[in-house]
Amino acid sequence: MRLLGKTMLTEPCQAEQRQVVIIGPGAMGCLYAALLNRSRSVDVSLLDYHPQRAAQIQQQGVVVEAAEETYTVPVYCSADPGDFLVADLLIVFTKAYDTEAAIRRATPLVGSDTGVLTLQNGLGNYQILQQHVPKEQVLAGTTASGATLLGPGHIRQAGVAEIVLGSPVGNTELAHEVAEILQSASQTVKINDDVDAVLWRKALINCAINPLTALTRRRNGELLEITALRELMAQVAREVYAVASAAGINLGRYSPVEAVEQVCRATATNQSSMLQDILAGRQTEIEYLNGAVAEIAGQYDTAAPLCECLAALVQGINC
Ligand code: PAF
Repeated sequence: MRLLGKTMLTEPCQAEQRQVVIIGPGAMGCLYAALLNRSRSVDVSLLDYHPQRAAQIQQQGVVVEAAEETYTVPVYCSADPGDFLVADLLIVFTKAYDTEAAIRRATPLVGSDTGVLTLQNGLGNYQILQQHVPKEQVLAGTTASGATLLGPGHIRQAGVAEIVLGSPVGNTELAHEVAEILQSASQTVKINDDVDAVLWRKALINCAINPLTALTRRRNGELLEITALRELMAQVAREVYAVASAAGINLGRYSPVEAVEQVCRATATNQSSMLQDILAGRQTEIEYLNGAVAEIAGQYDTAAPLCECLAALVQGINC
């Protein structure tokens, strides 16, 4: 498989290289485009919706400021889905509110063997993908990697962590194939068959940390230093855990408060993605995090008043 635009603009790719297309050149999309392309074992491109930004990234590559070095990785980037042929793997890294539009635009890249993997924040993303792609081709997962977007195609890398993924409909064969593609590009990947539990554990972390950092404009680690915020964060974590249980999601032997506090410590100097969104005047993913939890709580005759309140407050910031 070959990218039409790419074969015209750069060296032809090796025929045996798997084609990975990342949708969404935000901080995480750029981070993984750079990490995977740098391994040289897969051929990674970026699909954007913004022609000017795509042209800039195509010209400059992805610039990564890591702890020890700043490096640039050439990455083919286009806003025209017609520039791409069918991909082996599509990774959706758009904001959750763009999932529907993104997968509609990417339809020409999806063949009968294409795996479509969401690694986005939030709840409900894989269900949207399943409305546009056969369910057995959709995978979902999480990563605790972090990056900050400094400009178009320009990021600061905060840390690279493992990817956990699985098939919501039990297509373990595809999960293994996709894990193998990512592992061949030097990524640590675990397969977990209970993908809903994986997504809820990540959503719990995001629901507890992100709105508090966005509302107070504090870095993740500061939430542990201020007693009132630490206690509120713990209460939100317990609330999300209770809603997950009511919804039949088995989070297993897991302490929600310890999990959230551990992430705060590990990412102490990070600005959460929601704080980055607020500071940049962008829409946040609150409706797919605390908003979604509050909505799901209602479906199971329970309530999530803290999530509902935080969702309203964050929605009020940029209106
Ligand atoms: O959304 C984010 O910023 C991240 O998922 C996390 C884990 C909260 C770290 O900043």
